[in-house]
Amino acid sequence: MSEQNTVTSRRSFLGASALAGVALPHVHAAENNTIQVALVGCGGRGTGAAINALSVTNGPTKLVAMADVVPKKLNDSYDKLKSQFADQVDVPPERRFLGFDAFRQAMDSMKKGDVVILGTPPAFRWVMFSHAIDKGLHTFMEKPVTVDGPTTKRMLKLGELSAQKNLKVGVGLMVRHCRARQELLNRIRNGQIGEIIAMRAYRMGQGGGTAPPKPEGISELAYQISRFHAFLWASGGVFSDYYIHQIDECSWMKGAWPVEAHAVGGRHYRGDSLDQNFDVYSVQYTFPDGTKLYFDGRNMKGARDEFASYAHGSNGSAVISTLSHAPGMTRIYKGQKIPTVTSRKDLPLPEDPNLVWAFPQPEKSPYQWEWDDLMEAIRQDKPYNEVKRGAEASLVASMGRMAAHTGQIVTFDQILNCPHEFAPDVDKLTMDGPAPLQLGPDGKYPVPEPGIKIDREY
Ligand SMILES: NC(=O)c1ccc[n+]([C@@H]2O[C@H](COP(=O)([O-])OP(=O)(O)OC[C@H]3O[C@@H](n4cnc5c(N)ncnc54)[C@H](O)[C@@H]3O)[C@@H](O)[C@H]2O)c1
Repeated sequence: MSEQNTVTSRRSFLGASALAGVALPHVHAAENNTIQVALVGCGGRGTGAAINALSVTNGPTKLVAMADVVPKKLNDSYDKLKSQFADQVDVPPERRFLGFDAFRQAMDSMKKGDVVILGTPPAFRWVMFSHAIDKGLHTFMEKPVTVDGPTTKRMLKLGELSAQKNLKVGVGLMVRHCRARQELLNRIRNGQIGEIIAMRAYRMGQGGGTAPPKPEGISELAYQISRFHAFLWASGGVFSDYYIHQIDECSWMKGAWPVEAHAVGGRHYRGDSLDQNFDVYSVQYTFPDGTKLYFDGRNMKGARDEFASYAHGSNGSAVISTLSHAPGMTRIYKGQKIPTVTSRKDLPLPEDPNLVWAFPQPEKSPYQWEWDDLMEAIRQDKPYNEVKRGAEASLVASMGRMAAHTGQIVTFDQILNCPHEFAPDVDKLTMDGPAPLQLGPDGKYPVPEPGIKIDREY
């Protein structure tokens, strides 16, 4: 089987729509071959995704509409994109939209077959994706795509609907598009490390997800959105928002989603922060065949950093991620001894007699690959819908988070069927209305209490 076939069949197994042979309506790109793009959520990643969209080399692209809830975010993003891409950015003031309805207005200014980028905090994903489907827009949406069970069920249904309409949908788990990881997957499938017997992944950094008391002059809702990593309704917390990538890449390499999670975690040094996160998480995920993935997350100043994923096989071991997401620097070793690389200071890698294979450097960014692949699928009308696997990855992240937050073993079915929807009225928010999370009488937001709150996380 060729590498591409292996990768494709594995993707199908993990949930990407396998639609070949099904008659689908062809959603055309604009007549003149230019694919028009709208950006909703103009922060760091949204702007980065727009840069990637405008940088594809397989045909012309143009940014034509932008939407955000914060004027400065939109203006800064516009200035950056305009200065870098000049005529490829055609967003006059009448196509720059602000407020909770801005996403609708931006999408309503587009034509069927155009593309919308959803770069807001995850809570808004299902609301905005529903409208994109109604408008016949291809979509790129950042991960996570859901933060709890009820929104995952909703997203899975929306994914089916978008596939029926032949809409191409990318989800920002860009590592799946990294050629170094794809080649590693192929080698693992071909048995180069034997059977996978254990996996390990670490995302340990110097902090994140804090929320000092709200300053004067900003509404509670605007504050929570601006600090979305701090609040479970908005992002799923640092667990979902940060750790999903490695949980996803390990599950991809393993060829299955974990069926249950057993986890610990705690709050040590939150200082004056009122967020809902723990400082440390340690999760044991179990795959259907009993194999474990051990994931450690820590957000703590002064402690050791590591941001890497590993697979251990019966006949060798593999590095899936070395230093963050890119470059992947995927490698295979004889035996189980993998040299530790925790910072760029450790590069270049020392000579190692156990090294069997390493992907050649330098590598192209997976953030660019995911856009090249999406635009290619749109232009060639190839089946391309990553919603199911994106929703499942988000759910599996929520499963580990809920296990740590409740102190219980949580299964895939339990998290999928857990009725706790963190922000049931997220589609009805207004600028001056209440936030989905309220301060308690103690002046603090509710936090998880493992062993005390066991059916819901807060
Ligand atoms: N794939 C990756 O490696 C990667 C990296 C970074 C971020 N992300 C994801 O991208 C998303 C955004 O993260 P970020 O770091 O860019 O955050 P950010 O705060 O920089 O950007 C979010 C933007 O969305 C805007 N926004 C919030 N609610 C909105 C609404 N209802 N309508 C319109 N605009 C709204 C905010 O004002 C802000 O400009 C998150 O889901 C995050 O997980 C992915």
